[in-house]
Formats: sequence, C-alpha cells, structure tokens
Amino acid sequence: MAMAMSRRPINPSRRVADIGGASPVPTSLHSKSRSSPFLSLGLIVVGAILLIGYFYRGSGGFGHIGAVSRVQGDFSCTTEVQQAIPFLKKAYGDSMRKVLHIGPDTCSVVSALLREEDTEAWGLEPYDIEDADHSCKSLVHKGLVRVADIKFSLPYRAKSFSVVIVSDALDYLSPKYLNKTLPELARVSADGLVIFTGFPQHHKAKPTDKSKLGRSAKLRSATWWVRHFVQTSLEENEAAVKKFEQAALRRSYKPSCQIFHLKSYQ
Ligand SMILES: *[C@@H]1O[C@H](CO)[C@@H](O)[C@H](O)[C@H]1NC(C)=O
Repeated sequence: MAMAMSRRPINPSRRVADIGGASPVPTSLHSKSRSSPFLSLGLIVVGAILLIGYFYRGSGGFGHIGAVSRVQGDFSCTTEVQQAIPFLKKAYGDSMRKVLHIGPDTCSVVSALLREEDTEAWGLEPYDIEDADHSCKSLVHKGLVRVADIKFSLPYRAKSFSVVIVSDALDYLSPKYLNKTLPELARVSADGLVIFTGFPQHHKAKPTDKSKLGRSAKLRSATWWVRHFVQTSLEENEAAVKKFEQAALRRSYKPSCQIFHLKSYQ
C-alpha cells in the first residue's frame, strides 16, 4: 500500500520545496495530528505506513534516504531533472531561456523551471495527467503543458525550443519507435537535447509502469544508448558535457540517472 501511495504524482509545489531543502516532516506531522484522534488503531497503522512511504518519496535524493528509495526502485529521473536545473543552467547558459521538458509529471519540472529567472518553459506529458492539482491544471489551461504520444510527430515546429529535456519517457520505447522519436526531439530543439534515463543496475522495471505505454521500462546501458544515438545521427554535445560535469564536480552532485547531452541537428 505504501508503494501504491508513493507512485502517485506529488504536488509540484511541495516537491520543489523539498528540492530547496525544506523538510517534508512538517507536512507529515500536520496531517498526522489532524487525523489521528479520529481513527481506529488499524487505520493509524495504515496511516503510519503511508506517511513513511510519503516521507521516503519526498526525501528522494537526500543522502542515505535517497539511496533507500532508489534501492526500492522508487526513483524517478523526472525528480532528478529538478535537482539538475542549476547544473543545466551552467552547461547551457543563455540557451536555458526556452525549455521544453518531456516526461511524466512534467508539471513539476515546468513549475520549477518557471521559477528560474529568464526561463520560459513548456511541458509535454506522454501519459495521461492523473490527479492534476490546481497549479498543473492552470499550466494545461495556459497551453504550457500538453499531453501527446511521443511515438508520433511532436506537435511543435522545428527549433521551437532552445533546449529539450526528456526524462523517464524513452525507457519505454522500443528501438523501432526510438528511431522515429529521437530525430523528432532533435528537430524541435535548437541548442541541444538532454536525455535522462535510468541506470540499469539502479532501477528495476516495475509492474505498475506497464500501464503507461503498454510496455515496461527497459533500462539500457550507456553503450546501448550511445550506439542508438549514432544510428540516428545524433552527436554528443561535448561542450555541454564538460561544463555540466565541472559544475557537478564543484558541488559534489552525483546524478542518480544517466544524463546524455546531444547536439540538435544543424
Ligand atoms: C533504426 O535505424 C537504424 C539506422 O537507420 C537502423 O540501422 C536500425 O535497424 C533501425 N532499428 C529499428 C529497430 O528499426
């Protein structure tokens, strides 16, 4: 049950607060103190399990607790994108002005990007938006976030965005569809394409993921990905890789996902 709870999309504002270092504990204490007097012992036990699940999810990426949730397989590269924003800004500089994020829970990434100075952001959600909260609904209403199947042509003109960032979406595509989707991602970007995928050793395909695109995540090695990028004529963006790695090293940031920096088509 804790697993089911932690799989649900989290309120973007809350998640961003977590990234900023705010502790998720006050939220948990609040809901506990509010509900416990009215619940039977059995429900309190269930509630405690849910709170623990919630706490682990909310703390993803922090020290050993992040490691615990990763081992449990409950880790998303979309969360990693939010943590990587400062380093992406160092790597891409002015090109972080017009960003498209593609991936599940894109509202959380778009909200985080919009909080950055001089950054416009759009989101493409490859799956249905479940449990959209108020701020996500408002992003959809403004046309900043839309739902589209990335197996087909993307609903944007060539070079519509300076940088395109993808997370937790390509892991679900077969090589046949990657052959069509990767060129599409490069087509709509002008200054670069950043791909976040799971490490095969850290992530296990979860049965629940299957519902999303009708097939489970297949986590592939860096060698596999690089071979596929070559097949689709995508080249590594060496300048961006170097700047990103330097900025990450300075802050001892170790991503929990594989991050590939690719050039857009010329
Ligand atoms: C993908 O495209 C490459 C290059 O055109 C080709 O060699 C490969 O067989 C394709 N893979 C699939 C699964 O269609």
